[in-house]
Amino acid sequence: MLATPDPQTTAFREDVLHGLSAPVPAIPARWLYDQRGSELFDAITRLPAYYPTRTETALLEQVMPEIAAKLPTGTAVVEFGAGSATKTPILLQAIAPAAYVPVDISGDYLQQSAAELQDRFPALKVEPVVADFARAFTLPKQIESLPKLGFFPGSTIGNFVPRSATDLLRQFRTLLGPCSFLLIGMDRVKPVRRLLAAYDDPRGVTAEFNLNLLVRINRELDADVPVEAFRHDARWNDILSRIEMHLVATRDVQFKIAGRQFRLAEGASIHTENSHKYGRRGARVLLLAGGWTPLAEWTDAAGDFSVVLARAEPERFAP
Ligand code: AVJ
Repeated sequence: MLATPDPQTTAFREDVLHGLSAPVPAIPARWLYDQRGSELFDAITRLPAYYPTRTETALLEQVMPEIAAKLPTGTAVVEFGAGSATKTPILLQAIAPAAYVPVDISGDYLQQSAAELQDRFPALKVEPVVADFARAFTLPKQIESLPKLGFFPGSTIGNFVPRSATDLLRQFRTLLGPCSFLLIGMDRVKPVRRLLAAYDDPRGVTAEFNLNLLVRINRELDADVPVEAFRHDARWNDILSRIEMHLVATRDVQFKIAGRQFRLAEGASIHTENSHKYGRRGARVLLLAGGWTPLAEWTDAAGDFSVVLARAEPERFAP
């Protein structure tokens, strides 16, 4: 008997079938993060070559008192994503928010990380919301009347092409409302060799992270993709200012996914992730286009990563 697939699996199947039928085969990056994928990403964040997590964490530690001083007391924090065990406590410790609302699509992961945070901050009101933060959802009633700070660290914004990133930022604004704040981490443009090293580490952890997507497809979607016939490839796309991850076929391959037949010629690739890098001005323009006015910006001494505090200015008529 066929079990009824859960909505997540249905969405995964649709994205994969649709993505692999497109002229440029691609699968949305969010599907990289199953249990194994999340573990591998965690391992990536500890790699010497992967500078973003380390740099952003140190930066947050350093500037949090300044950030806290700019926020109204009794602010509610809404984090887009379940929250990291290291970055989120830095924020919560410094601003002592009235409530903390982590928003994540994975209910299990969310419950677990929310429970851990609750243990660490017993007095904090933690109100997890299971939702895809890229779609419309509603906030808990309890925080309706409180000032709000959106927290979007990790350069996750870089996973979205600028058009979608703008939509997402505008949606955050609609959700949080005028006069709310946004604290966002954005990775910076830097020499290509450093970028490539961060996304193609010598230990092959990133390669395994990327290839795990095919393992997941085989496990969850009744598929027979020959994983050994693909290799990880990280490329710098200069005109679009982004690192791209691809899975390149090392020979002509054919496989079936959920009853559908696919073919890829040797050298053809499946595009699995974009990681956009922004310069100082580009970062600000993106935020402004999304309805957020930058108030302050902090960067590590090497200029590798930046954290921006922005505000949703109320609409004005002039000029
Ligand atoms: C979690 C999206 C920030 O783009 O740097 C790390 C994911 N991919 N190595 C990033 C990732 C390959 C990461 N983000």
